Amino acid sequence: MGRSLIVGNWKMNGLAAALPEIAAMAAARDDLWLAPPFTLIGAAVAAAGGRVAIGGQDCHASASGAHTGCVSAPMLADLGAGFVIVGHSERRTDMHETDADVRAKALAGQAAGLQVIVCVGESEVQRDAGAVEAVVGGQLAGSLPDDVAGVIVAYEPVWAIGTGRTPTPAEVAAVHGFIRARLVARFGAAGQGVRILYGGSVKPDNAALLLGQADVGGALVGGASLTAASLLAIAAAAE
Ligand code: 13P
Repeated sequence: MGRSLIVGNWKMNGLAAALPEIAAMAAARDDLWLAPPFTLIGAAVAAAGGRVAIGGQDCHASASGAHTGCVSAPMLADLGAGFVIVGHSERRTDMHETDADVRAKALAGQAAGLQVIVCVGESEVQRDAGAVEAVVGGQLAGSLPDDVAGVIVAYEPVWAIGTGRTPTPAEVAAVHGFIRARLVARFGAAGQGVRILYGGSVKPDNAALLLGQADVGGALVGGASLTAASLLAIAAAAE
């Protein structure tokens, strides 16, 4: 599957003053992906100079229409974005997005020619109840399109996001193995080829251990992606 893919998600962070961080990432490597806020995508594409793939953090399910304040997948592609994240737990929670919503967005991303990162992950209550596989399996079944061309799955346990807590390496391996099995059961050989990222409190000092687990094909990084120094340290640790 190749080496680890490191994807930064800036969430609702980043003003124009942060663009030099993207230029610094691009100066150092040509294999990082970064999802800045919508407002910076055009400038980020320019700052990245084709060396950091720039993507959106969400898209609408429709290509255009009367949806005030929303951004469509073709709009992202038009700015030079190469991918889009859909179904992040913060959107599932804050914006009440359902699996069906996420699937529709994934289809929109594919139709616009974007690679699509589909996020899944259980809450702490769900993990404590022993429902990890039921929750993640349900999200996979409901959120993934029927064709996984250009699709990446990100496993992000909600309780690990922004908390400094992570699952143990064995717990990460167990869920990634479960996701792989579900992908293969549904998509066959195509499911074997889907990259599965881990996300949730990935930092330079834990990246090597988490990314070294079976079926972990990279990381989706929030807080530690905000500076070039930190994201580059994660990428270096992942090698
Ligand atoms: P943190 O790395 O800040 O925990 O965020 C993870 C995340 O949600 C990335 O999408």
